Amino acid sequence: MNDPQGSRATEPGVLELPASTALPQVGEIVEATSRDGQAVCLALLETGELAAFEPRCPHRGVPLCRGTLEGGLVICLDHFWRWHACSGEAAGGGHPALRTYRVERQGEGLRLLPP
Ligand code: FES
Repeated sequence: MNDPQGSRATEPGVLELPASTALPQVGEIVEATSRDGQAVCLALLETGELAAFEPRCPHRGVPLCRGTLEGGLVICLDHFWRWHACSGEAAGGGHPALRTYRVERQGEGLRLLPP
């Protein structure tokens, strides 16, 4: 393996994404996989901020990479629940928050930490 960090143990609650992770374009949500096999959504906001959040809608579990981004909000297209992409705070409707991560660069890859 050419990746010297691949065998390092990951701290609990932290996701490490390898350099090969395909990053989203502006306004796009993509699903990525951490070194230890966990799925996560990445979204690139119009502000240039990279947001990371849980990959499935807390309502009925549909993939949020099939949703859309509008003005910094993630919108699940099944029943239109909305959240602020970076904070995970629900936008109207009183539904539960989305689990999010703080994003840090780690070499060529990314490190996602609890908020
Ligand atoms: S499945 Fe996402 S809002 Fe219902």
